[in-house]
Amino acid sequence: MGVKSIISGTGSYLPEKILTNADLEKMVDTSDEWIIQRSGIKERHIAADGQTTSDMAIIAARRAMEAANISADQINAIIVATTTPDKTFPAVAVHVQSALGIPHCPAFDVQAVCSGFMYALATADAYIKSGMASTVLVIGAEKMSSIIDWSDRTTCVLFADGAGAVVLEARDAKDDEGLEGQGVLSTHLYANGDGKDLLCTTGGPSCTGDVGFLTMQGKEVFKFAVKYLSEIVGEVLAKNRIHPDQIDWLVPHQANIRIIESTAKKLDMPMDKVVVTIDRHGNTSAASIPLALDEAVRDGRIKRGQLVLMEAMGGGFTWGAVLARF
Ligand code: UT7
Repeated sequence: MGVKSIISGTGSYLPEKILTNADLEKMVDTSDEWIIQRSGIKERHIAADGQTTSDMAIIAARRAMEAANISADQINAIIVATTTPDKTFPAVAVHVQSALGIPHCPAFDVQAVCSGFMYALATADAYIKSGMASTVLVIGAEKMSSIIDWSDRTTCVLFADGAGAVVLEARDAKDDEGLEGQGVLSTHLYANGDGKDLLCTTGGPSCTGDVGFLTMQGKEVFKFAVKYLSEIVGEVLAKNRIHPDQIDWLVPHQANIRIIESTAKKLDMPMDKVVVTIDRHGNTSAASIPLALDEAVRDGRIKRGQLVLMEAMGGGFTWGAVLARF
């Protein structure tokens, strides 16, 4: 009998302030029509001045712990996916640990930009399967608004803030349960550093000494996103020997509705089996998948026992996917 990882609870947090496309029309030369047509975004949440990534991560984590019905002293690892930590160091994960009173344990951030939550979840799953931890708090949290050049219309209309979290717990796995068993079934991670200049910041601690602003060659990134996501969902199907119609829900990273539709098409999945939040959340980078997952769990769409495919692509390039039975 082996060990497997179960998603035992989800939680999320969105800042109060909503920035609409109409608001952006007053800030840069853009239009509601262009933003909706090219990206699918209508509005997004923006953190308050002084509200940090860890502030949002802590609330999302608390909600996930409540949903999982676990207390702080049961957690024995914390992994936060973020590109926008409060400070260069220490990690957001140690802020979370301190605020929630979690006992001494490994606590660290992973940085894979929009794929960050896939990297964090895969790492947490490996921690559990190797016996290094039994209850892991996995968080995706971003204050993308803090690295946006608000005069750059090619990026400021896309990105936004928020946090999502899951509690991943160890359970005994029966040898014969296979695809029908609850928990993380397979994880898939990739990177291609040759794409590092197509989506990046203009600064950083060891080059300019400041955080810089996000820049993106949107069209190029779009092409790679469609290609890599199509490849990786194909790999998930092949590895697990499943047909797309066995998947109950696609929970994609929310970067662009056209990228989401293209992945759904590749999987031959109708859009009513795809969790879409981009219209209201924008692109919250590492937070987008756990935010979407939590929304669909709480509104009753995603039910226990259903098969969920999560996937993301982002700066680096990095991309990843996780197949789990919820
Ligand atoms: O999450 C991490 C991964 N990120 C992504 O996956 C994002 C991938 N890329 C995209 O989603 C899309 O490429 C964008 C939404 C960023 C842009 O859509 P696009 O259809 O690729 O547009 P484009 O960049 O080719 O721009 C088309 C035109 C350009 O004008 P010209 O050169 O044709 O005259 C832009 O200057 O639209 C112009 N434009 C805008 N117009 C109004 C660019 N930004 C804006 C804007 N409002 N905000």
